Amino acid sequence: MVKPDHVFDRDAEWADLTAFASRGGEGATLGIVSGRRRHGKSYLLQALATVSGGVYFAATRDTEAVSLRAFADALAEHTGRPVGTPFRDWSDAVSRLFEQVRDRPVPVVIDDFPFLMRSTPSLPSILARELGPGGRGRGSTARLLLCGSALPVMRGLLGGRSPLHGRAGLEIAIRPLGYRDAARFWGIGDPKLAAMTHAIVGGTPAYGRQFTDCAAPASLADFDAWVVRTVLSPAGALFREARHLLAEETTVRNPAVYHSALAAVAEGHETVKEIAEYVGRRPSEMGHPLGVLVDCALLAREPDALRTGRPTYRIAEPLVAFYEAVMRRDWVRLEAGGGDRLWPELRPTFESRVMEPHFEGLCHRFALEHGGAIFGELPRTVGRAVVNDGERRERIQVDVVVMGRWGPNERARILSLGQARWGQEMDDSDVTRLGRARDLLAARGFDVEGCVLACYSGTGFAEPLRARAAAERIELIDLQRLYTG
Ligand SMILES: Nc1ncnc2c1ncn2[C@@H]1O[C@H](COP(=O)(O)OP(=O)(O)OP(=O)(O)O)[C@@H](O)[C@H]1O
Ligand SMILES: [Mg+2]
Repeated sequence: MVKPDHVFDRDAEWADLTAFASRGGEGATLGIVSGRRRHGKSYLLQALATVSGGVYFAATRDTEAVSLRAFADALAEHTGRPVGTPFRDWSDAVSRLFEQVRDRPVPVVIDDFPFLMRSTPSLPSILARELGPGGRGRGSTARLLLCGSALPVMRGLLGGRSPLHGRAGLEIAIRPLGYRDAARFWGIGDPKLAAMTHAIVGGTPAYGRQFTDCAAPASLADFDAWVVRTVLSPAGALFREARHLLAEETTVRNPAVYHSALAAVAEGHETVKEIAEYVGRRPSEMGHPLGVLVDCALLAREPDALRTGRPTYRIAEPLVAFYEAVMRRDWVRLEAGGGDRLWPELRPTFESRVMEPHFEGLCHRFALEHGGAIFGELPRTVGRAVVNDGERRERIQVDVVVMGRWGPNERARILSLGQARWGQEMDDSDVTRLGRARDLLAARGFDVEGCVLACYSGTGFAEPLRARAAAERIELIDLQRLYTG
């Protein structure tokens, strides 16, 4: 089964899906596809169903009766004949589906499955029964694929307490495109422009295709105008998108706490203590809301790379980070169409609150995915860390800590310590600080032999630093390397 040309990237996912969908053998099987809103789940599964002549059914927020009729139509379209007597209930629908799909393996996609579960909470039990021994699935060749974006619900489907636990033969997550793929998808060759665009629309393919008013910025010089005519334009679809995402995800009792926690992170408060202080709650009260935000992938919790128990948080979806940091406070003025006047005022906030942390995130991806050649071995984890300098009463923030592998009785191996700066030229003092951190960590028992000091910059490197890098083993990583190195 050849992937259609209109589907960009997703080769690994396509290979998994087609292998699952065409796997021989009797007995219906189950797969789960999940991923955040607009990342391209339906697009991919529709392509799969079309190429393989399978069934594609997208659930809606409807009653059970309406959903059952729509499902009957989808099945009839596949078999080419009406289903006969209407489905009584989902039990009836599932067993008749399995009876009709018997001659060859075909994918049966039930998209937006969480909608069905809302009107029919027993659906996972019904599926478990029909897929289990003695169920109608035994003689069927259906390759059932349940898909949805409500991550906690989708995760729960396979969790220990779910009737479907242990039943899935395939579980895939559709993630946003990687930063380099996103640049290709948008057709942006200039790495600086690619990084800036990625800081707003991330790797979400929908923002480049479905939101058709959102063609890529033509050049660096066009970037400001592009921001104004797309994400800051109240008539454009992208303008309200972050709010839609938030409204959908925070199906929670006290949205105020959740929104304020996101605002706190967007403003640079990263630890539980700092977030709690900003929100006006005790740190112990923030555990639950932060956990919910992490579960639905609005926030990412990142452990300190060098010690346990001091995680920091960042906003996982670029568009939401942009909204929280740049748009939220000026929403009323932006909604009145003041984007072009406001943007020059907002741009410094974009640089400091959006680009700086976003750039650090890009450096992490780079180090993890392409660092093997630079650091001498494949990195195991990449993160940030704070190193306390007791003697000088300082805390050294190390932005890019690359860890290697080590055995049970060996010291933890640090492959690289790096500093990331988007908007400011880097100089010698950055390397001096990193060197100090390396010495402190060596004294603390880390293996820093071969630890490479690295400077990642979105702006450039001062001459003395260049000279020093030529003499010592210091890596200077600019945007060109980040995108093509
Ligand atoms: N691989 C891709 N290649 C090209 N365009 C894509 C790709 N994936 C997604 N798109 C574009 O993004 C749009 C949104 O994708 P899709 O509807 O599949 O998202 P989704 O993950 O199903 O979102 P939701 O959870 O909101 O249903 C598609 O209509 C298409 O325009
Ligand atoms: Mg969808």
